[in-house]
Amino acid sequence: MTSQSWNPELYQHHAGFVARLGGAVLDLLGPVAGQEVLDLGCGDGVLTERLQSMGARVLGVDGSPAMVAATRARGIPAEVADGHALPYADRFDAVFSNAALHWMTRPDEVLGSVHRALRPGGRFVAEMGGHGNVAAEVVALHVAAAEFGLEPGQIHPWYFPSPAEQAGRLQRVGFTVQQMKLIPRPTPLPTGMLGWLHTFAGPYLRHLSQDQALPFLRRVEALLAPALRDGQGNWSADYVRLRFVALKG
Ligand code: BEZ
Repeated sequence: MTSQSWNPELYQHHAGFVARLGGAVLDLLGPVAGQEVLDLGCGDGVLTERLQSMGARVLGVDGSPAMVAATRARGIPAEVADGHALPYADRFDAVFSNAALHWMTRPDEVLGSVHRALRPGGRFVAEMGGHGNVAAEVVALHVAAAEFGLEPGQIHPWYFPSPAEQAGRLQRVGFTVQQMKLIPRPTPLPTGMLGWLHTFAGPYLRHLSQDQALPFLRRVEALLAPALRDGQGNWSADYVRLRFVALKG
């Protein structure tokens, strides 16, 4: 996973909507009572807790020790693990993932690793950023990064596939794709674009000095204002979700 340090409290403050809006993909899982379910990229465990309350025997995994600690603090089993190389075989009835797969930039390794972790007939139900996701933010980050002397193409930390690309990758590792949908979802940002950038633009900020960080974020914000700030000063992000269900055949 691309390195990004996560602070569970800040994440909840600036991006609590990520889990709230992730409810729709939970519905695609169907009944989970008594089933072993892996939450891949569990973050602070909000949705893992929902899965547990639906009767699943859950395990959360995340690349961030701080997020795993936040999940465990809810009384939910969780482990630090890399989605590219999950240490499980034929173990889970379902693998669930919300808003995490786009941070894992070697998708074939991730999909192979999820396929291995599932029992035969197990399902992989996920939502992630899809093709065109946060396109305006990506362009503004690239422009500002170049202005600050960085190589944006080498930093770009996300993988936002089209439905056809993701379906092809799933099939090549042995999944049968049952559903695959690209869903534009403009999303209000409760703490504005600066809050969003503070939460998610870490991979860019790591390459800048402390003195450069705020001017960089302000430059990105200024580039985005004509597109993503409305006349009353409210910000939204141009999210595009890719939602899918695939079966281990
Ligand atoms: C997303 O959930 O789509 C996302 C969040 C932060 C950065 C990029 C994408």
